[in-house]
Formats: sequence, structure tokens, C-alpha cells
Amino acid sequence: MALKIGFIGGGNMASCIFKGIVTTRPQQDQLMVSGPHLEKLAAFKEAGAELTTDNVAVATWADVLFLGVKPQIMPEVLEEIKSVDFSGKLVVSMAAGWRLAAFYSRLGEIALVRIMPNTPAKLGLGVTAVCSGAHVSAEQTQLCLDLLAGLGKTVLTDEAGINSLGALAGSTPAFLYRFLEALVAETVAHGFSESEARAIIEQMALGTASMVIANQDQSLAQLREAVTSKGGTTFQGLAQMTNYHFEDMMHDVIEACLRRTREFEDMFK
Ligand SMILES: NC(=O)c1ccc[n+]([C@@H]2O[C@H](COP(=O)([O-])OP(=O)(O)OC[C@H]3O[C@@H](n4cnc5c(N)ncnc54)[C@H](OP(=O)(O)O)[C@@H]3O)[C@@H](O)[C@H]2O)c1
Repeated sequence: MALKIGFIGGGNMASCIFKGIVTTRPQQDQLMVSGPHLEKLAAFKEAGAELTTDNVAVATWADVLFLGVKPQIMPEVLEEIKSVDFSGKLVVSMAAGWRLAAFYSRLGEIALVRIMPNTPAKLGLGVTAVCSGAHVSAEQTQLCLDLLAGLGKTVLTDEAGINSLGALAGSTPAFLYRFLEALVAETVAHGFSESEARAIIEQMALGTASMVIANQDQSLAQLREAVTSKGGTTFQGLAQMTNYHFEDMMHDVIEACLRRTREFEDMFK
């Protein structure tokens, strides 16, 4: 079915979703994007979208409306579009810390889906949490999942799940980058150049992720044990991770993200 798909805000995440849609549904839909600086939206135009600075025009025109602005910009955008008749429309928010109730109190009881994508979605390798509000039909939920298919995996969940996956999938690329950064620094400290170190560590990460995917019949613990002879070198390294309470640290890392999410939710009531 051909749709009118609108975006308010054409930044990083919106362009990722837009790219996914034009890749998985080529030439199928009409697309419109709004933003304050049209010159920054040239890539959308080249891919066939109409551009405007008028958020109300996109909201009025669209069958499916993606809200792609930063959480702190959302209040002014919702104030602008609150008089639009949203009946029959599906609205999709990707804003962290913006609960369904915060939208209902401003726009009424609209059909709203919250999603929480992550940056590997740029390569079609993302994990996107999807939570449908009470006024979203099963068909609309399926439509949303179809529109997001180009981003990678989608996980249907509730609002609590959106928050936990915001941390566990949304923020975790940053934690893994930090882990890799530390390993690159170690590799350099052992005499390799920066570019050699990066090539070594990225191949190690790709190989390890591929091992996880290729060996679904083995648990992660089994895969780890397969590289760990008792009393051997890896064994000693893992013992050091245990000394540093690695799992407790990761628990605290995720909890810190969730605490911040709750603070945002209190801010955007
Ligand atoms: N990036 C991620 O990894 C990620 C992951 C999950 C969720 N999200 C969510 O995605 C949303 C967007 O994040 P982002 O990283 O894509 O931010 P971004 O790149 O800064 O994009 C925000 C866009 O909103 C536009 N904008 C600003 N004021 C506007 C207004 N009044 N009306 C219409 N458009 C306006 C900006 O245009 P100008 O640049 O011209 O000002 C920009 O194109 C946020 O809610 C964030 O929580 C992001």
C-alpha cells in the first residue's frame, strides 16, 4: 500500500529510518520531511522527498508521521501541531524519555507508537524496540514493523521494555566502542601502530560476533569456555575481570542509563 510518510526533523535517526523505508519499499511511498534548515535536508530531496519548513503541513499531510526531533525540542513541536486532526494517522516517536502519556496529554488519545532504534540501524544491523500505544490497531503495529524492517531486527515490547532496550541496545554500542578503544590502546602499548591495532581489534570483534551468530547451539558461556583452558593465559585474564567485578560493573552501567531515562521522563511529563 502506498503511503504518505512524513518526518518532522531530518537528523541522524530520521535519515536512517528514511533510508530503510526507501530501500525496502522503493518508489512505493510519497515522502515529506520538515526541518528549520532546508539546506541540511538535501539528501532527502535527492531521494525523492518533498521538503518544507512547515511542521504543521507535514503533520496534516502524512498518513504516518515520524517525530525525529530531539527530546528537548519536542514540546515546541507538539505545541505547533496539536490542532492537527490525527484521526486515522499513525504517529511514531523515537524520543528518549517521552512516555506515551506525555503525548496524549498534549495531542489527545492518538494512535502512537514509541520506538527506540540504535545506530547500527544505519547499516541495517540495528535493534529497534517498538511499543504500540493503546489506540494503535494490530494492522498499524504491523505497518510500523514493516516500515522499520530496513533498520535490522525489531522487538515488540511495552514501555518498560523501551527503556531497558534503550540502555541495553541503544547505549550499548557506546559501551562496546569503549571496550574496543581500550583494547586498541593496549595493542598500541604493545608496539603496534594505531592503524594496525584498529585493524586487529576490529577483525577480532567481527570474528567474535560472527562466532556468536554462527554457533546458536552453544551458549555464550560455552563459547567462552572453548577459548579458556584451565590455568591458561585466557583463564588468568578472565580471573582479572572477575577481580574487577565485571558483571557488577555492567549492571551499574545499565542502571545509570535507566536512572537518567527516569530523570528525562520526569522532565518531559
Ligand atoms: N541518534 C541515535 O542514536 C538515537 C537513538 C535512539 C533514539 N534517538 C532519538 O531520535 C531523535 C532524534 O535524534 P537524532 O540523533 O537524530 O538528532 P539530530 O540528528 O540532532 O536530529 C534532530 C533534527 O531535528 C531538527 N529540528 C530541530 N528543531 C526542529 C523543529 N522545531 N522542527 C522540526 N525539526 C527540527 C534538526 O534540524 P537542524 O539540524 O536543522 O536544527 C535535526 O535535523 C531524538 O528524539 C533521540 O532521542 C536517537
